[in-house]
Amino acid sequence: MKRVFLLLFAGTVLLSCDVGSKRTEAPKITAKPEKELFQVPDTSTLKDDEWGRQVKYGRRLVQNTAYYLGPDGIVSKNLGNKMNCTNCHLNSGTKPYGLNFFNSHKTYPQYRAREDAILTMSDRVNNCVERPHNGKPLKLDSREMNAIVSYIKWVGENYDTAKHVGYSLKYVKYHGLSADPKRGEAVYTTHCKSCHQEDGQGQLNGDKTMYTYPPLWGPKSYQEGSSMHRVLKAASFIKYNMPDKKASLESPVLTDQEALDVAAFINDGSIHPRPNPTHHDYPNTQTKPIDYFKGPYIDGFSEEQHAFGPWDEIEKYYVDKGLKVNK
Ligand code: HEC
Ligand code: HEC
Repeated sequence: MKRVFLLLFAGTVLLSCDVGSKRTEAPKITAKPEKELFQVPDTSTLKDDEWGRQVKYGRRLVQNTAYYLGPDGIVSKNLGNKMNCTNCHLNSGTKPYGLNFFNSHKTYPQYRAREDAILTMSDRVNNCVERPHNGKPLKLDSREMNAIVSYIKWVGENYDTAKHVGYSLKYVKYHGLSADPKRGEAVYTTHCKSCHQEDGQGQLNGDKTMYTYPPLWGPKSYQEGSSMHRVLKAASFIKYNMPDKKASLESPVLTDQEALDVAAFINDGSIHPRPNPTHHDYPNTQTKPIDYFKGPYIDGFSEEQHAFGPWDEIEKYYVDKGLKVNK
């Protein structure tokens, strides 16, 4: 999986003092141009033509997915739950480090470890329809799939990795740390329960078509093996986006440790079951993510350690073997 690690304030300090030389010039400081946080254009800039209408329909589908495609959907009943894409891809996939679509369209087709195959953008959309939404794939040539993919393309049209930052997620620092579901329970009580509820089932809206507060576990939540079910990924989402969408890169509320612990609490299958399909994911164990909860693995580490860390030794195993660390 491609990961983009970018420094928000990239600055280079060039020190021109050779050890042992007599040069005494002051250090030269050359600042690289700062990359900007990407701004998605307003939908009002879209024309009322075929493309504009398609993008706008795609945006409505991402925002009100369950209303259109949910178990009681007015267009189809592909989804197995009432979550919306925007519950995770915040602000319809436009929030910096909030699982946005800034660079998604330009990076597909790409190799995906889960299938050990090259997937198109539409295939990847269907991954989320099947796993977090516990549903049946959309027809690849359907009006809905075309609209969603058009919307994702539009969101990232002006995103340029040479100029912009903010794509996808910012990873928590997990080196030296592991995640403890027990400690996570305390974090949940303090920071999450008020919205997602004591039983983690969230709260439906007034007409019960979708969620005001989406569920975090149980039969109506995302499946085991979804990306959000992985502790490192979930912690990275949570740290910079929760509690409440007001948390951000500049103003996180939780520490890395708290984010890891609460992600472990939510995703611990022994206390919080969730839909458990029988996909045959990651057929190539060499490219399996280090935080995937289920074996087989090529390394000798337990499922418990893969799920909750510490991940340092696991990571070292792959590095020593000259393999890519997938996460
Ligand atoms: C003030 C209310 C509020 C609090 C407190 C809150 N959340 Fe959320 N959370 C939301 C809303 C609303 C969404 C969906 C965002 C949207 O649709 O725009 C969400 C989405 C999520 C999601 C992705 C969707 C899902 O259901 O899987 C996760 C994971 C999550 N929250 C975890 C947490 C954790 C962990 C905490 C505590 C650290 C927390 N939230 C605290 C309101 C809240
Ligand atoms: C429970 C949370 C959740 C829901 C709901 C969800 N997704 Fe996702 N989605 C994720 C996570 C987590 C990833 C993985 C991102 C990563 O690998 O960094 C992802 C990845 C994607 C990607 C690939 C993005 C990229 O740049 O690589 C696309 C496209 C996508 N989702 C579309 C959708 C669509 C469309 C919907 C609604 C039909 C949806 N998702 C619903 C959590 C969710």
